[in-house]
Amino acid sequence: MKAVRINEFGDPSVLKIEEIPDISAKKNQVLVKLVSSGVNFADVLRRQGKYPGPDLPCTLGLEGAGTIVSLGEGVNGFDIGQDVLVLGPQCHAEMVSVNKHFVFPYDASKLSSSIAGGMPLTFLTAYHLLRTRGQMQSGNQILIHSGASGVGTIAIQMAKHWGATVISTASTQEKMELCKTVGADHVINYTAEDFEQTINEMTDNEGVDLVLDAVGGPTLEKSIRCVKSYGKLLSYGNASGESANLPASDFTTLNRTIIGFSMGRSPFGSLDHKSAMQDILKEVYAGSFKLIVDRSLDLEEVGTAHAHLSGRKSKGKVILTV
Ligand SMILES: NC(=O)c1ccc[n+]([C@@H]2O[C@H](COP(=O)([O-])OP(=O)(O)OC[C@H]3O[C@@H](n4cnc5c(N)ncnc54)[C@H](OP(=O)(O)O)[C@@H]3O)[C@@H](O)[C@H]2O)c1
Repeated sequence: MKAVRINEFGDPSVLKIEEIPDISAKKNQVLVKLVSSGVNFADVLRRQGKYPGPDLPCTLGLEGAGTIVSLGEGVNGFDIGQDVLVLGPQCHAEMVSVNKHFVFPYDASKLSSSIAGGMPLTFLTAYHLLRTRGQMQSGNQILIHSGASGVGTIAIQMAKHWGATVISTASTQEKMELCKTVGADHVINYTAEDFEQTINEMTDNEGVDLVLDAVGGPTLEKSIRCVKSYGKLLSYGNASGESANLPASDFTTLNRTIIGFSMGRSPFGSLDHKSAMQDILKEVYAGSFKLIVDRSLDLEEVGTAHAHLSGRKSKGKVILTV
């Protein structure tokens, strides 16, 4: 079968389409023939050697959508031919074998399989950030950085739908417009204005209930100072690649909480993906949450997809069609 492989770390030229041996479903696994697979910032970091993963050579991709081909020993409750979303490694390929706990049936008459593969990681990340870890409440004020990113575009929709006032940041006019379109009440172009100052002005120096930050570095340093007393900062990535200097007084003084989040490195069973995905799909079918697709590309165009993401040009998700 065809797969996107890396044999070494480096620029997009290290991404190769290779023929690799067919795989089968091992114990507790479900074998899925993929139709689409989302490209995530984590894939870019992995290709650059800045993200944990298996030894090289390896297949990239962390999420997908397709149909079940076979079931491994110990797997019940799924049918051959069923349409499913999958979360897990090696999804930039024609087939993937995934642990049964990370396989989610969906209705392909209500959600196109050609884009559904860009949903699982992004939607579950936004859901767990806001609900499981952030415990957001209706009426909260929430600052969402990188609002036009894959995760950002979904987090804005969810926070708004669940009753929050949403302030987001973005670096360009086009990205700001997208943040507005998906529901942000206010968007800050952080390249033109100091977001910390703007948040202080907007909240009478009180700050917001929750901040979602995957930029890290100096952004994280300012983000903690945008959190109100007893509010929370959710740190879930470090796109800037920079270190943050966080004086203890910035979080002790106002009883602020800093919460770390990693889907991939959450202990098995600690996140209830099944019920999260049921909640998510209900809202997707009802039209409340919509995947924002920047572009769909063929698997062979994975290098273009990576260049687009690492150049910070993408708005919403880039999807590979298998
Ligand atoms: N913890 C988890 O489990 C988890 C899960 C999924 C994603 N993540 C993290 O969440 C973030 C968003 O992921 P995604 O796949 O949705 O990303 P994406 O669509 O590729 O968007 C990333 C955005 O981050 C912003 N950014 C700020 N500083 C950047 C920098 N130095 N280099 C590149 N981008 C920068 C850019 O928006 P502006 O141009 O508007 O600044 C960029 O468009 C990433 O940091 C990712 O690692 C974490």
